[in-house]
Amino acid sequence: MDAGIETAGASRPLGQDIANAGLFFRRWLANPLQMGSIVPSSPALCRRVVAHTKAAEDQIVVELGAGTGVVSRALLESGLKPERLFVVEIVPDMADHLRQAFPGINVIQGDARRLPQLIPQHYHGRIGTVIVGIPLVLLPLAEQRRFIDAIEGVAPGLGFILYSYCITSPLPWKKHGLRPKREAWTPMNIPPASVWRYVPEAKDRQT
Ligand SMILES: C[S@@+](CC[C@H](N)C(=O)[O-])C[C@H]1O[C@@H](n2cnc3c(N)ncnc32)[C@H](O)[C@@H]1O
Repeated sequence: MDAGIETAGASRPLGQDIANAGLFFRRWLANPLQMGSIVPSSPALCRRVVAHTKAAEDQIVVELGAGTGVVSRALLESGLKPERLFVVEIVPDMADHLRQAFPGINVIQGDARRLPQLIPQHYHGRIGTVIVGIPLVLLPLAEQRRFIDAIEGVAPGLGFILYSYCITSPLPWKKHGLRPKREAWTPMNIPPASVWRYVPEAKDRQT
């Protein structure tokens, strides 16, 4: 992770059973579209997500669709202080699991499409990175738009990173007015996965 994240979690005992593959698989059986994957992301993919996550000292990191917390764990192990991590997870059982597994992080059980209502106002505009683990590629354009607008509502102009199994862009970026960049790829995931960054075009032109 980028500079600005203090090392605080180095001695933190983060259990090996965090991934909770059983819970993940049961949720996939119950709602495959909402889960988008049968198994949690691999350590190799989590490392790549963390490598492209930035946060200055006064900023938070927001993770959407935390599942059983493999990316959350990687973020904490990289030194992100628990209180600066906000995870949003729609499934109550998974949110409970996250609370138990990672004391001190901010677990919000809710629908990420309502992000502006879920993230305390105080932190709007003070977000270093938004990480999207929700399988947006499986959604129709208008539904994707709701997530993108929700992110824009709390982090204007920032954009987000999204990991996906698609070889090409998982989002129709032109239609959404986004500029895409494939930041990383790993074959060490089932299936192989990429980390994409999307930035609103207007903001991108200024930088
Ligand atoms: C592919 S899994 C990713 C889980 C985990 N981040 C990982 O990498 O293994 C997608 C997660 O997004 C959650 N999710 C789906 N729709 C959501 C929504 N509208 N709001 C919040 N979470 C959602 C699912 O419950 C699931 O846990």
